[in-house]
Amino acid sequence: MNDKVENSWKKVYGFCGELLHRSQANSGARSFETAQVYPQFRTFSNKNPLDSHFMEYSPPPPSAQTHFHDEKIHIILAASGSVATIKLPNIAQALSRHHNVSIRIIVTKSAERFLDGQSLEQPSLEALRAVPGVEAIYRDEDEWKNPWTRGEPILHIELRKWAHLLLVAPLSANTMAKMTMGIADNLLLSVIRAWDTTGMVDGNLKTKKPLIFVAPAMNTAMWNHPITGKQIEILEKEWGVNNSSKDGWVSVLRPMEKHLACGDTGNGAMMDWEAIVCVVEQYIGVQTRRRSNITG
Ligand SMILES: Cc1cc2nc3c(=O)[nH]c(=O)nc-3n(C[C@H](O)[C@H](O)[C@H](O)COP(=O)(O)O)c2cc1C
Repeated sequence: MNDKVENSWKKVYGFCGELLHRSQANSGARSFETAQVYPQFRTFSNKNPLDSHFMEYSPPPPSAQTHFHDEKIHIILAASGSVATIKLPNIAQALSRHHNVSIRIIVTKSAERFLDGQSLEQPSLEALRAVPGVEAIYRDEDEWKNPWTRGEPILHIELRKWAHLLLVAPLSANTMAKMTMGIADNLLLSVIRAWDTTGMVDGNLKTKKPLIFVAPAMNTAMWNHPITGKQIEILEKEWGVNNSSKDGWVSVLRPMEKHLACGDTGNGAMMDWEAIVCVVEQYIGVQTRRRSNITG
């Protein structure tokens, strides 16, 4: 990697550019590294014995009005079904270090399969819920917990109102395709579809238009497929927020090249999770501490 490349990373991702550039440069060496495992997951990494317990992790829909004055930054952290879902606990833990951050997690059905307490780097949802700052974990079932009656809050709408930002890391090829087509057939996609893209609908609740950050993660052949380019174009050119257009509401955290878990080598791996955290921290204005192990 030369200076020109590093400068282009910096241009796109500002302060985090160098971190991104370096993680990209070292991605080969880091590819088989075990994810950093936080001590608390060692205690809670058992399989969840009773599926119905999951229900306890998701309190009733957060009333956006109630949380309006808590002076916290509300982050929805979501994962769709990619192997990179195993980085979700690291991201949650890193963001939860900030006392003024409140996190609610959404997992798609496929994403759930990667966090079932099967290994230390794949804690159960129960363990994830125990991370301070993680207030709830929502699954598709939570949207339809009880038959709806007039006056009842609707989960995906309340989550949308509550959130100052949504980070989808990883964004699977499937969810990316549905997102760009406007399909809303699960909880995560319903939140995305109901997003306040102008900032006018929830203007009374927020001072800043909320953004959606997405970190695509997929097999190299999936990434290279021509349909991916079309969808990325929608996300970046039509809906993207950048220096020249403040009309957008989506920021794509582009994947990187490495040796993928499936055995292929090439582009499509989710951006380094620490770089993702850095971008989000920079956006929400909390201090970023340079992590020493980023160079691998
Ligand atoms: C072990 C395994 C790993 C997978 N990894 C990925 C991946 O990295 N990226 C991706 O887009 N799809 C991946 N898939 C396929 C998705 O899980 C599948 O398309 C699923 O329908 C995605 O659903 P969702 O987008 O609703 O989460 C994987 C599937 C399996 C079984």
